[in-house]
Amino acid sequence: MTLWSGRFAEPPSDVLWRYTVDHSDRRLLVDDVTGSLAHVAMLGGAGILPDEDTDALTDGLRRILGEAESGEFRYVNGDEDVHSAVERRLIELVGEVGGKLHTGRSRNDQVALDLRLYLRRAAEGRADQLAAFAMMLADLAEGTADLVVPVFTHLQQAQPISFGHHLLAHAWPMLRDRERIIECMARLDVSPLGAGAAGGSSLPLRPDAVAGELGMSAIFENSIDAVAGRDVVCEYVFCCAQTVVGLSRLAEELVLWGTTEFGWVTYDERTVTGSSALPQKQNPDIAELARGRAATVLGDVTALLALQKGLPLAYQRDLQEDKALAFHADDTLAATLEALGAMLAGARFHPPLPSSETAALDLAERLTGRGVPFRRAHQAVGRLVAALHGNGRDLGSATGDDLAADPLFEQADLEVIDPQGSVAQRLSPGGGSVASVHHQIETLRRRLSN
Ligand code: ARG
Repeated sequence: MTLWSGRFAEPPSDVLWRYTVDHSDRRLLVDDVTGSLAHVAMLGGAGILPDEDTDALTDGLRRILGEAESGEFRYVNGDEDVHSAVERRLIELVGEVGGKLHTGRSRNDQVALDLRLYLRRAAEGRADQLAAFAMMLADLAEGTADLVVPVFTHLQQAQPISFGHHLLAHAWPMLRDRERIIECMARLDVSPLGAGAAGGSSLPLRPDAVAGELGMSAIFENSIDAVAGRDVVCEYVFCCAQTVVGLSRLAEELVLWGTTEFGWVTYDERTVTGSSALPQKQNPDIAELARGRAATVLGDVTALLALQKGLPLAYQRDLQEDKALAFHADDTLAATLEALGAMLAGARFHPPLPSSETAALDLAERLTGRGVPFRRAHQAVGRLVAALHGNGRDLGSATGDDLAADPLFEQADLEVIDPQGSVAQRLSPGGGSVASVHHQIETLRRRLSN
């Protein structure tokens, strides 16, 4: 029997059932029962239900919570959704009084609450994972601070930097991803229960008491908004999407760095795969899948935005689709953090030195130190590089004679044409020097342990 059979002479058709029943919400079971326990406590506290009913419902719900936590809870074919399943089981356990559970409540405010409870916990988990990942990047950066690599612009070698600086460039956005998730948690932490189907109830409900029971920091202000709003779910999924996009960008570099052409890194054999056809290969499949799965999370955000667009207020059944999207985005983020973290943790970095030409800016800046306008210095170094290339040489092979072609140069300027020296001389704050890397690591660790 459905929750709504009273109005109907006929049972639902199989086709309606197959099309409308959703099993994805079963992941909300524990949150659903937790929300129901808070609802019952409120009904008792507000004098809406007598104590003996409150006690019976609470006992029954606690037993269901036990079944949910131990995995013993059983669904039956007639359960339309997780909410109906819990009410059906409650009546099995405590008898007709179980029918009082839904007093002053609708599945519309109930499901909105369940999802917020679920995502609040998920957000906490992801924030912790992100902190651990960024901490690992800080540790790796510390261990690789003395390795000198080129930083790229236009995928051309640009300047020499500490390799740790590059790793940290992935840690900082991760810190912001974490902060964004924590900020989103505050908006998730608002209870919609008490909104009813859409317009509230004639009963003296106490939404504040429910929120207090659940440790939520605020309650809805408008019942229509409480049941129809999905912006916060969408915001959380955006947080997931932005984070997996950052991870995908890191993954792309892990693929690139592992190629024969780059030769920057060797991965732990346990974190790469082989080829069924090509015996020599080791493939970075974790990184490739991280990149590929990021695409599917972008789909989740787009779908959630589209779900809201054009939806009249208040609750419409369309909104049932939000859960699978939110779960998929969150699951993908959790799994990607775990897998990519394992791949990175086992990586051994051995990048070759950058091209000597990456010191070209240092040579130009040396001239500016003598009062030469930067534009003239840039021209002079550019001409020197062009002349050397014309003879099949590069900047690293320049001699005093080559510099003598332009009076702006002094012989001693040759000493700055050295990628390692360039990193050692780098002064600007937040730049690619080793000192900057150590400073960043300290700041990052401090901000992550807050
Ligand atoms: N399964 C539904 C959902 O996820 C629960 C709310 C159903 N409400 C209703 N009026 N049929 O949105």
